[in-house]
Amino acid sequence: MISLTAQLSGLVGDAFAGLDLPRDLGRVSRSDRPDLGQFQCNGAMAAARIAKTNPRKIAEKIVENLSRHPLLSDVSIAGPGFINLSVTDEFLSRHVTALNADDRLGVGEVSVQKVLLDFGGPNIAKPMHVGHLRSTIIGDCLSRLFSFAGVETISDVHLGDWGKPMGMLISALELEQPDLPYFDASHSGPYPEEPPVTLEDLERLYPLAAAACKADPARDETARLATVDLQSGRPGYHALWMHFLAVSRRAMEREFGALGVSFDLWKGESDVDDLIPDMVKALKQSGLAHKDQGALIIDVAKPDDAHEIPPLILEKSDGGATYATTDLATIVDRVKSQNPDTILYVVDQRQHTHFEQVFRAAGQAGLNGRTALEHIGFGTMNGPDGKPFKTREGSVMKLHDLITMVREKALERLSQAGLATDFTKEERALIANQIGVGALKFADLNTHRLSDYIFDLDRFMRFEGKTGPYLQYAAVRIKSILRKAAEEKVDVPDAALAVTSDVERALG
Ligand code: ARG
Repeated sequence: MISLTAQLSGLVGDAFAGLDLPRDLGRVSRSDRPDLGQFQCNGAMAAARIAKTNPRKIAEKIVENLSRHPLLSDVSIAGPGFINLSVTDEFLSRHVTALNADDRLGVGEVSVQKVLLDFGGPNIAKPMHVGHLRSTIIGDCLSRLFSFAGVETISDVHLGDWGKPMGMLISALELEQPDLPYFDASHSGPYPEEPPVTLEDLERLYPLAAAACKADPARDETARLATVDLQSGRPGYHALWMHFLAVSRRAMEREFGALGVSFDLWKGESDVDDLIPDMVKALKQSGLAHKDQGALIIDVAKPDDAHEIPPLILEKSDGGATYATTDLATIVDRVKSQNPDTILYVVDQRQHTHFEQVFRAAGQAGLNGRTALEHIGFGTMNGPDGKPFKTREGSVMKLHDLITMVREKALERLSQAGLATDFTKEERALIANQIGVGALKFADLNTHRLSDYIFDLDRFMRFEGKTGPYLQYAAVRIKSILRKAAEEKVDVPDAALAVTSDVERALG
């Protein structure tokens, strides 16, 4: 389907062409002054410069040409030569009827065929927090939009499931339960099917281990060695890590499920570990990566950078890979296995420099081939104090607790307003979840992506104004009208839509 503005641009473009002027001067857009007309075209200004005459003269000729056009109800000139246009109700009615009959509601073609979306990005053993919430909401929204526009869309959760945090966990558990079979180096399986830890164990162990490693160099060294052993395939550690993965994934699926989000791929950092040695070797051989103070780095700065972009560290001086190394190897993997037109990374804006480094290095090395790489950053969700949202105790707010909080608030609002009283307890819980999660998503998407915003549940949950609950109310109301219309045997979907009043014109 061709949009209204495109159709009108064609019409006005013809009129410009009739005066031997460039057709694209006829570009029509929605009016900034709806009191003067529904649409506007400012092309007479540029035309006057080309034809070395006065814009009003040109506008007059265009208007004269268009004034008898059957699709237009009004054509006029404002100021020095701005052209205002309005379409007839018949034309608008036909257009909205066609939109309604179109499966894609008139959404046009998109220039990409295949998009890979990297979002969610939770880490094993660390609880999902509000940073992952924004990534999930925005990423899922993009995924739905691309799919709707007919683009092949692949979502990848890109788990943080590798590296030092895993070694820290393993060594912390070994200290607590040294008798578990996973720690016996002389044993190589089989291992128990039941996980030796719960999610609560992992969530308790990780911060303990992180603090211990920071305070005690010996603990840190043990964790480093455990990481090396895990990554070189020690059977017990690998089996244990698989348990961590499974236990964490169950919790992640619960959180994503509550938000109505699912993923095509559950790949993670660990999946590209195998690709790193060859990639690093090639980057060394090409001369792109070089040694600097013991580390292997790639220079990515450009002379015209407004602020300094530090080199990408491919290998630390102890030989270990970094977050950037993994992201480079992930590009290699994605290009090889998916070959998308674009990879979009929906990740906190505070990681922008990281992605700039990774994209530049990938480009220099030609790792991304024809695939475009783009970081879709976002601002932080803050508490009332303007700092990243925390619990009352000052620790990071877990996504699970946040969702629970939002559900409870929705239930409370339902009770206060005396709504849904005739529903069962289970149904009320379901409704509360829909309202709560809807309020959260709406508040997030209603804020400019790159802006920070304050988490204010009372504001998100208002039943009127720009809120999720109000949007849901409007949708439910419309559905109820359609349902009643069907009961009255009004055949809504096939009926020609007639635009006859000002509100309908504006909506159309
Ligand atoms: N796990 C990371 C974090 O929690 C996010 C991963 C984002 N994606 C990526 N390809 N780096 O910060």
